[in-house]
Amino acid sequence: MLFQKKNAAPLKRAYPVPEHVAIIMDGNGRWAKKRGLPRTAGHSAGSETFRRIATYCRDIGMRYLTVYAFSTENWKRSEEEVAAIMSLLKKYLLEAIDEMEEDHIRLHFFGDLSAISPELRELTQRTDAISEKYDGFQVNVCLNYGGRDEICRAAREFARRCAAGECKPEELDENGFSELLYSAGIPDPDLIIRPSGEVRISNFLLWQSAYAEYYFTDVLWPDFTPQELEKAIEAFHRRDRRYGGVKR
Ligand code: FPP
Repeated sequence: MLFQKKNAAPLKRAYPVPEHVAIIMDGNGRWAKKRGLPRTAGHSAGSETFRRIATYCRDIGMRYLTVYAFSTENWKRSEEEVAAIMSLLKKYLLEAIDEMEEDHIRLHFFGDLSAISPELRELTQRTDAISEKYDGFQVNVCLNYGGRDEICRAAREFARRCAAGECKPEELDENGFSELLYSAGIPDPDLIIRPSGEVRISNFLLWQSAYAEYYFTDVLWPDFTPQELEKAIEAFHRRDRRYGGVKR
């Protein structure tokens, strides 16, 4: 089951839930290596973690969860590993299609889907179509996604519109540019979490992360739990977000 049933009683919370959390699901390979397993076993375990964390986010009332599932650079991995990740995505999309009507969750994709298999692309179109009917918790899955690629595409689209006489270069502002990105209409992430001990952005949500708070932890993604997520939310609330202003 992709999304488990909602808890009967909402939990009492020490900290409010951020509206939008984004996660770089990193460390699957190292998790598998530590156990003498193939890297693909790490991705399987990582998928289960995704399912648990997405369910938890929905249950605590989060509005948006964005996860980095496959980057534009991940094609450099072995054919076997790429196939394993794609097959996990397919499995979860099939489950989602069966259950979205009941769970009213929405799935959306950020990335260039022209490069993925027609079968997987068709599944993303089906989940997109079901999602349009609802307005609750939304999971954005970054698939063949790169932040620079996203910005280039948006710039190209704006140039195309200018060349077609639909707008003028001087009319472009930050809000207008945001509307040309995969994340159009979705608020920027408040909190970006990267497990596995790596302390870098890796081409993830470059435009949207301008004012996001980052949370890094050594825990590998397959070991990431709702308790770890709560630690990140707590740390987020201890930060002093000034958006370039001065504390009053
Ligand atoms: C990064 O860990 C992880 C990935 C590139 C793949 C993430 C994919 C999944 C969790 C499975 C499918 C997703 C969904 C939404 C069902 P890594 O392999 O780079 O780990 P390493 O740095 O330890 O080698």
